[in-house]
Amino acid sequence: MKKLWTSTKWIFGIAKPFTKYLLIIILAGAGTSLINVLRAVLSKQLVDAATSQQLQIVFQLIVIIAATIITELIVKAIVTLVSSKCNIKISNNIQQQLFSKVMKTKWSEFTRYHSGDVLTRMTSDVDAITNIITSTIPTLVSLTVLLIGSFIAFLFLDPVLGILLIVLSPITVFLSKYFSIKLKKFYLKFQQIESKYRSFINESIQNMVVVKTFCLEQKNISTLNNIQNERTSLTVSKAKVSALANSILISGFWINYFLVFGWGALKLYNNTITFGSLTAMISLIGNIQGPFSGMAMLLPQVVAAIGSTERLQELEGLDIDYSDTRCRELKAAGIVYENVDFSYEKGKPILKNISANIEPGEIAALVGPSGEGKTTFINLLLALLYPDKGKIFIKDNDDRINVSSSTRQLISYVPQGNTLFSGTIRDNLLFGNPEAAEEEIDCAAKAASAYEFIKSNPEGFDKVLGERGVGISEGQAQRIAIARALLRKKPILILDEATSALDAGTEIEVLRAIKNLKPAPTCIIITHRTAALKICDKIFRIRDNNILTQQRRDEEMGNVSYI
Ligand SMILES: Nc1ncnc2c1ncn2[C@@H]1O[C@H](COP(=O)(O)OP(=O)(O)OP(=O)(O)O)[C@@H](O)[C@H]1O
Ligand SMILES: [Mg+2]
Repeated sequence: MKKLWTSTKWIFGIAKPFTKYLLIIILAGAGTSLINVLRAVLSKQLVDAATSQQLQIVFQLIVIIAATIITELIVKAIVTLVSSKCNIKISNNIQQQLFSKVMKTKWSEFTRYHSGDVLTRMTSDVDAITNIITSTIPTLVSLTVLLIGSFIAFLFLDPVLGILLIVLSPITVFLSKYFSIKLKKFYLKFQQIESKYRSFINESIQNMVVVKTFCLEQKNISTLNNIQNERTSLTVSKAKVSALANSILISGFWINYFLVFGWGALKLYNNTITFGSLTAMISLIGNIQGPFSGMAMLLPQVVAAIGSTERLQELEGLDIDYSDTRCRELKAAGIVYENVDFSYEKGKPILKNISANIEPGEIAALVGPSGEGKTTFINLLLALLYPDKGKIFIKDNDDRINVSSSTRQLISYVPQGNTLFSGTIRDNLLFGNPEAAEEEIDCAAKAASAYEFIKSNPEGFDKVLGERGVGISEGQAQRIAIARALLRKKPILILDEATSALDAGTEIEVLRAIKNLKPAPTCIIITHRTAALKICDKIFRIRDNNILTQQRRDEEMGNVSYI
C-alpha cells in the first residue's frame, strides 16, 4: 500500500508541470461522458414524443441529438491533438531527467546495471508512465463521470433498479483487485525478461566479431530463442490471469444487463413504464457496462505503470557524484596517494595501504601484472571509485585539493580499450575541447603521431568513423584518443595502456612528444612495455596489493632501489 502511495505521488509529481493540458483532456473527457448521459435522457423523450404523436418535439429532439453527436466528435478530435502533444512532452521530460541522472550517477553504482536494462527502463517504462498520465487517468475520470451520471439518470427512471445496480457493481471491482496483485508480479518479471532480451541483442551486435570468429552465430540464435520462449510462456500465463479477471468482470455486467432488460420488459408489460424509459434504461446500461469493461482493460495498464514507477524510481535513487563547481586552475599539479585501501568486495582488498607521490611535471609509469589493480588505481584518482581508507589529493605547491568529481576537470584521460564515438575524426578530437582552433587540432594530432595518417586520407579530419571508431586500425584509434586527450590541455594526463597497439618506435615518439609539451603535464602511463619506461621519471610497481616506487635515475645508474 505504501508502495502504491509513493508511486502515485511520484506520478503526480511528473504530471504537475502539465496540469493545464491534462485539465483540458480530463474536462473534455468528462464533458463527453455527460453528453452521453444526456443523449440517453433525450432518447427517452424522443421515443415518448413519437409514441404520443408530438411531431414538432420529435424534430426538435432529433436536431438536439445530432448537435450532441457533432459536439462530441469535435471535442474528441481536440482531445486527440492535445493528448498527443502532452504525451511527447511528458515523455521527453522524464527521459531528460533520467538521462541527466544516469550521466551524473556514481560510476561504481551505474556499472551494476546492464546497458540494455537501462535502455528498457528509459523507453518502455517511460512509455508506460506517460500513457497512464495522458490516457489512462483521463479515461478513468471520464468513465467514472459516465458511470455516476448514468446511475443518477437510472435513479430517476427506476430507483429500485438503480440501487440494485449500485450494490451489485462494486462486487466485480472487488474481485478484480485480487487479480491485480497477481498481474503486477507478472509485469515485473516481464520487464526483467525484456531487459535480458534487449541486453542480449545489444551485446551480440556489439561483439559481432567475437560471435563470428568463435562461430557462435547458431548458439546465439538458439539463446535468443530460449529467451523468447521464456517471454512467450510468461505472456501466456499473464494472459490467462488477465482473461480470468476480465471474464469475472464481464459476467458481472451481463447479470446487470439481464436484470435491467427482464425487469424493464415486465414493467412495460404492466404498463408501469413508457417505451421511452425502457429505451433510455437499455442505453444507460450500456453506459454502465462500458465503464466497467473499460476499467477492467485499464487495470493492467495501472498495474504496469506502478511496476514501471518502481523501476524508474530505483534509477532516480542512484547516488550522483556530479558537481558543477569549477575546479580552480592549477599551475602545477602533483599527485599524492596517502595510505589508500580499496576493495570492490568486502574482505577482498585490491589495493592495501598504498602511498605514492608524483611531483608536478613528472612522468610516472605504472606497471604490474594484469589484474593487479592498475586501472583501479587510476579510477581512484579520477574519483570514479572512492577509497575505503586513506586520501588522494592533487597538490599545487602547498595547497592540497582532495580528489572528487570536480577535480576530473584537471585531468585528461585515455582509457583502456577503444573509446571513440561515431562521427568524424574532428568531432572525436573536439570532444573534450569544442573551442579548439585548427592549429591546436593539428598540434595535438602531430604530438600523438596521428597527423600524417589523418592527412594521408582524402577526407582528412573529416573522415567519418563508425561505432567505436570502425574504419581505422586499433593503433590509429589509440593515437586519435591520445590526440583527443592532449587537445583537452589539462595539467594531468593519464594513459591507461593507451599505446599498447602502437609499434615500439611510434610509442616512444608519442611519449617523447608528450614529455616535450609546454607546459608539461604530470603524467601517469600504464604500460607493459619496458622500452617506454626509459622516458619516465618514476616507476610504480603494483604487486600483492601494494605499490613499490622506483626512481628511474637510480635504475640508470645500476642502483635499483625501491622506496
Ligand atoms: N567492477 C569490479 N568489481 C569487482 N572486481 C573488479 C571490478 N573491476 C575490477 N575488478 C577486479 O579488480 C582487480 C584489479 O582490476 P584492474 O582493472 O584494476 O586491473 P589492471 O591491473 O588494470 O589489469 P589489466 O592490466 O589487465 O588492465 C582485478 O582482479 C579485477 O578482477
Ligand atoms: Mg587495466
